[in-house]
Amino acid sequence: MLVDGQSIAACETPAWWVDGKTVTTIEGLGTPQQPHRLQRAFIAEQAAQCGYCTSGMIIAAAALLEREPRPTEARVREALVRHLCRCGSHNRIVRAVLRAASES
Ligand code: FES
Repeated sequence: MLVDGQSIAACETPAWWVDGKTVTTIEGLGTPQQPHRLQRAFIAEQAAQCGYCTSGMIIAAAALLEREPRPTEARVREALVRHLCRCGSHNRIVRAVLRAASES
């Protein structure tokens, strides 16, 4: 999730810590009618297989693109390093983030 614009692991964050802060989850990034550019790029690059990691990947990428609108591939990989994709979709995920960045 994004907490005041920073990517935070929801699974290790107590609820009291986000009290009074702005929280954005994957559901808040876009809508089915108007998906966020990262969501469109993930679809275009077929970057989700089982989808287990997708929310965290997209949220971390959203925080990165907010800080760095045109990151290098190395910076994308660095930003996503804490997120594991057990399906092995990492290369497609990186391509999706770079695609989204190119659409800004
Ligand atoms: S798509 Fe299955 S864990 Fe990433």
